[in-house]
Amino acid sequence: MTTAHAPGKIILFGEHAVVYGRPAIAVPLLQLQATGEVTDLSDSPRGNVWLQASAVDLSCWLHECPTHNPLAKVVRLTLAEVRAVDPPALSVRVTSQIPIASGLGSGAAVSVAVIRALSEHLGSPLPLERQSSIAFEVERLHHGTPSGVDNTVITFSQPVYFVRGTPPESFKIGRRFELAIGVSDMPAPTAVAVSTVRQGWLTDPERYDDLFDAIGHISEQARRVIHSGQPEALGPLMDENQDLLEELGVSSSALRELILAARASGALGAKLSGAGLGGNVIALVTPETRERVLRAYESAGAIMTMHTQVRN
Ligand code: MEV
Repeated sequence: MTTAHAPGKIILFGEHAVVYGRPAIAVPLLQLQATGEVTDLSDSPRGNVWLQASAVDLSCWLHECPTHNPLAKVVRLTLAEVRAVDPPALSVRVTSQIPIASGLGSGAAVSVAVIRALSEHLGSPLPLERQSSIAFEVERLHHGTPSGVDNTVITFSQPVYFVRGTPPESFKIGRRFELAIGVSDMPAPTAVAVSTVRQGWLTDPERYDDLFDAIGHISEQARRVIHSGQPEALGPLMDENQDLLEELGVSSSALRELILAARASGALGAKLSGAGLGGNVIALVTPETRERVLRAYESAGAIMTMHTQVRN
């Protein structure tokens, strides 16, 4: 059996604006992993692939899976990429600790874990760039115009400063800092959130371009303060980014409640993270405020909470 993993992700700054060419900053969430397991099936005809992902109720032979199923697509693209000649029958099983539709990168992490397990099992492990571009193709199924930030940060498992269409830049974290994450009880429907913003931009391009510029400017400032080891300056930048996400129309009452609860409990700043409408929020905390913020999330309806250190 071949097993491979890929982490979740957190977008610190720049979600949505990144789809329109502005910079975003994202970091891997290493404590939550998706896992792909590939096993030979000796009692089935060569070339057949059995897919199983119980979390999404999927179990099918590859040739019978729905055409647009993301997991089936990931397997088809990986088999084509490694040019497997007469492979044995295989079972591909996926599990994940990353909650689905939480804005924590579950879709891209599952893709990358499967790409890794399958290509290694077939004796052709793929370089990170190829893993990332296959995962990007699959992201297109989730929403038509992915920026590529999710597949990039998850594949490279490093903090990235990301601008669509350019090679990702990793950057130094001058001083580690801590985030408290709260997952709301509403799912984050990426396709809906991305198309809400698209509609707004098509209706009023000038206003939306201004909002994207302002968000991009925050990502630039954030990179500077992270690099120079002044993470406490991120708090106000997170609050500002949240205000702009509100204006883009991708916040929600469930997210606002979590954000207000975090701020009232001593967080230095808080914002939604990922596509929004539901999903998760992040708050900048210290070892002194961390527990209070996590408890405040729970009282405000979070279905999952955790904290993580951001470091190189
Ligand atoms: C989703 O994690 C981030 C978005 O900016 C979409 C994307 O970048 O493709 C909302």
